Amino acid sequence: MKLLGIETSCDETAVCIIEAAGSIGKTFSFSLQGNALYSQIAIHAPYGGVFPNLAKREHSKNLVPIMTQALTEASLLNQGATPLTSEAHEILQNILTHEPELFEQLKAFLATYKRPDIDAIAVTHGPGLEPALWVGVNFARALSTLWNIPLVAVNHMEGHILLSMMHLDDTTHGHMSESAFPILSLLISGGHTELVLSESWMQYKLIGQTRDDAVGEAFDKVARLLGLSYPGGPEISRLAREARALNTASAFTFTPPMLHSNDFDFSFSGIKTEVRKTITAIPELTDDTRRDIARAFEDAVTQVLVRKTLKAVRETGAQTVVVGGGVSANTFIREELHKALNEKGFAEAELLVPVPALATDNAVMIAVAGYFRAVNGEYTDPATLRATGNLKLAL
Ligand code: KG4
Ligand code: ZN
Repeated sequence: MKLLGIETSCDETAVCIIEAAGSIGKTFSFSLQGNALYSQIAIHAPYGGVFPNLAKREHSKNLVPIMTQALTEASLLNQGATPLTSEAHEILQNILTHEPELFEQLKAFLATYKRPDIDAIAVTHGPGLEPALWVGVNFARALSTLWNIPLVAVNHMEGHILLSMMHLDDTTHGHMSESAFPILSLLISGGHTELVLSESWMQYKLIGQTRDDAVGEAFDKVARLLGLSYPGGPEISRLAREARALNTASAFTFTPPMLHSNDFDFSFSGIKTEVRKTITAIPELTDDTRRDIARAFEDAVTQVLVRKTLKAVRETGAQTVVVGGGVSANTFIREELHKALNEKGFAEAELLVPVPALATDNAVMIAVAGYFRAVNGEYTDPATLRATGNLKLAL
């Protein structure tokens, strides 16, 4: 089955084409035939975070060029379209009423290129920034209706989980191995910090979550306090690594939040305040103090993520631990989780992390998750699909 994946939940505009086969678990494999991504990071960086309406405008402007690039890579772009009928024109106009720029571009695209040979369209319908999500959803609804290709609505977080379970044989071919249940997923991104338990495929139960900020959000806010650029995760991680390489004791320590609470919940807003107070109290923020603060912050956050994950493994008997979401790109968190799962006699729990290139938002995760929904016959009606900013994966 060939799928077109579309992702616009935050600040990446991404489109891909995969060819996938098999069923979830050991027989599943896919090849990535086209993959294009436009990151808006540089546009949002001056604001220190993502500006929803700016993200929406950028998605509207970039979806058609990004899809064109992905289809070209997949050799699926063929000229010779028949002119749009007035009925098709009206459908397009109705669906894209709020995205005039996208409407104009897509109209020109559809009048030029023929319907590609694709079996399903998968799009993120939540969670994420609602204005941003709507652009991708409306784009997918328009393509699905006018090309008469079935539509699948994908939960972004399920995309992260499933992609973390893929092994890439090279840059374009992936497969899945059999994983033992229960599967515990640690979801860590700019909007989420959750521990989710699965007793069977694509069934999720929420066992813990952040009570305030998400861990990625904390990385971004602390980076801003340190005068580092957005997104803060990679920057903090880089400085912390430099500090550790110096092999000296850290000059600062922060309290790992909720380390000993008797649940699987998290909290990351207090530590940001602690960092702010620390910065205010020191005479000058030098490169050295920046490095030390980054390290102490990453240490504290990692400690609580590792401890709560281990506690969950112990109490649920999880056999597989999946880490997903943008923060899973963090090498220190990966290493510490790996160490802890092995050291403490949990060697039987297998740790799965995403390939680094696909740890942050992308369309491949959406197409892969969409495939599993499609083979279950879980299609959605393009006339009624909506974007849902606070869409839940698990209750
Ligand atoms: O999953 P993602 O791309 O977007 C959301 O769905 O939120 O995650 C983005 C988040 C940002 O907060 C970013 O700072 C964080 O992931 N991030 C990292 C690293 N790379 C990205 N956090 C810590 N260490 C990293 N290496
Ligand atoms: Zn994400």
